[in-house]
Amino acid sequence: MFAIARTFALVGVGAEPVHVEVDIGGGLPSFTIVGLPDTAVRESRERVRSALVNSGFRYPQHRVTVNLAPADLRKAGPGFDLAIAAALLAASGQIPKLVLDRYALAGELALDGAIRSVPGALAMAEGVRSLALRGVAVASADAVQAALVEGIEVVPLEHVAGLRELADGEIPPVATARIAEQDDDLPDLGDLRGQPVLRGALEIAAAGGHSLLLTGPPGGGKTMAAQRLPSLLPPLAAEEIVEVTRIAGACGENGGPRRRRPFRAPHHTVSARALVGGGRPPRPGEVTRAHRGVLFLDELGEFRRDALEALRVPIEQGVITVTRTTGSVALPCRFQLVAASNPCPCGEGEDSGECECHPAAVSRYQAKLSGALADRIDISLHVKRPNAEALAEGEVERSAAVRERVMAAREIQSERLGEGRTNAEMTPREVRRHCPLEGEARAMMEASHRKLKLSGRGWDRCVKLARTIADLGGSDGIAVEHVGQAVQARRNSEG
Ligand SMILES: Nc1ncnc2c1ncn2[C@@H]1O[C@H](COP(=O)(O)OP(=O)(O)OP(=O)(O)O)[C@@H](O)[C@H]1O
Ligand SMILES: [Mg+2]
Ligand SMILES: [Zn+2]
Repeated sequence: MFAIARTFALVGVGAEPVHVEVDIGGGLPSFTIVGLPDTAVRESRERVRSALVNSGFRYPQHRVTVNLAPADLRKAGPGFDLAIAAALLAASGQIPKLVLDRYALAGELALDGAIRSVPGALAMAEGVRSLALRGVAVASADAVQAALVEGIEVVPLEHVAGLRELADGEIPPVATARIAEQDDDLPDLGDLRGQPVLRGALEIAAAGGHSLLLTGPPGGGKTMAAQRLPSLLPPLAAEEIVEVTRIAGACGENGGPRRRRPFRAPHHTVSARALVGGGRPPRPGEVTRAHRGVLFLDELGEFRRDALEALRVPIEQGVITVTRTTGSVALPCRFQLVAASNPCPCGEGEDSGECECHPAAVSRYQAKLSGALADRIDISLHVKRPNAEALAEGEVERSAAVRERVMAAREIQSERLGEGRTNAEMTPREVRRHCPLEGEARAMMEASHRKLKLSGRGWDRCVKLARTIADLGGSDGIAVEHVGQAVQARRNSEG
C-alpha cells in the first residue's frame, strides 16, 4: 500500500518541491523516515500518530516507511507533518488518492490534529502554480498569504480531519488577495523641526536610493530622521509587494500582503550571519528582510567589524549568494542603507570642545566608521543639535509633499533605467552613458576628485548623486551646481 503527497522544502526564500512517499508493508509496527530529515522532521512521527488517532482516523499497525524525495535536499522543520499524514491516510485507504494528485499540502500538526502555520506560504503557492497542480491546502493563517497567487485554489484547513472534506470538495477556497492602497501612518517628516540640510539629504537619498550616514552628538535627531525615510519612498509596486511578502513569509511571518516597505533596524550586536544570511538550510538575513526597503544601522560605531565587512558585497550587488551542499541560493537584498553614529565614544565629537575621549579611542571609533563601509556611503552628513528657534518653529513640510517630488524624480529614473530602478543602482557603464559631464560641471568634478582623493567608486557615486540632484530639479543635463551639491553632500555639515 503506497501513496505520494506533494509538499515543499523552503530554500532561502523559495520553495522546492518535495515528494512524500509512504509505503505501508507487512511486518511489526514501525515508523522509518528517510531523505535527509532533521530532528523536527523525524519527530513528525509522534505528532502524526497522535493527530490521526485523536481525529478519529486509524493509525496503521504495520511497518510504515516515509521517504522524502529528492534525497539530497535537506528537510527541516515540522512543515512536512500534514503531507506525511495525508499520504499515510491515502496509503491506508482512509482518504482517496485523488486528493493528493490535486493538492499540495503544507502544515505542522498539533497532537489533537489541529493544523499550525508554517513559513513560506507564498513561496509554496508559487511552487504549486509552476507544478500545475489544482491548489494547495494550508493552515487558515497561511491561506491569506498563499492567496496572493492567482490561478490556483488555496484551501484553508483547520484540522487534519478536514482532509475528508477536502476529498469531497466541501471546503471553499479563499478568494485571491486584493492589494489595497498603502496606509499612511508612518512616522512623518513633519515632526522634524529645523534641520534644512538634513531634510534635503533625506529627500535626495529617497529620490535616488542613495546610502546615507548621519553623524553627530546625542539628541541631534539622527535616529528620528532615519525612521522618517520610509515615509518619503514611493509605495511598493505590485510585483514588489509579492517579493516582500514572499521574504516575510519565508521568515515565518504569515498574514496577508506586505504593502509597506520594510524598515529593518538590527541591534548592533547582530552577527555577520544574522545580518547577511546563511546557515543550513540557508536562512535570509537582515539584508534580505530589508529588500525594497531600508536597512538602518543605528550606532554604526558599535557594530562588529566582521558584520560590517560582510555587508560590502550585498550593498553593491543587491543579491547575496549563500552556498550550500547542493549548489548555491541567491537571496535578494536590494536595500537602502542608512547609518547613524556619534562622532566619538562620548558622543560630543572632537571639534565640540567638550569631548572627553582618549584620542586613541576616538581614532579606533572613527576607523570603524570610515573602514568597512566608507566607500559605500553616498551621502555623509554631520547633524548638529537643533537650536531653540528651530524647535519652536511652526509648520514644516510634511512627508507627503516631499514624496511627490521624490516620485517625480523616480519616474525619470524609471524611464531612463527601467521600471523601478534608481540612480544608485546604475552600473559603471550606465553612469558613463547617462551622466555625461561637460564644461564647468566636468571641471568641478575633476577638481573635487583631486581635492577629495576620490576612488573610482567614489567618483561614480558622486556622479550618480549629481544625477539624482539634477533629476529632482527636472534638469536633463548635469550642471555645475548639481555637481557642487553632490560633492558637498558627500562630506557635509549641518549649519
Ligand atoms: N529636529 C528636531 N525636531 C524635533 N524634535 C527633535 C529634533 N531633533 C531631536 N528631536 C527630539 O530629540 C529626540 C532624540 O532624537 P534622536 O533620538 O533622533 O537623536 P539621535 O541623534 O539619534 O541621538 P543619539 O546619538 O543619542 O542616538 C527625538 O525623539 C525628538 O523628540
Ligand atoms: Mg539615535
Ligand atoms: Zn568624545
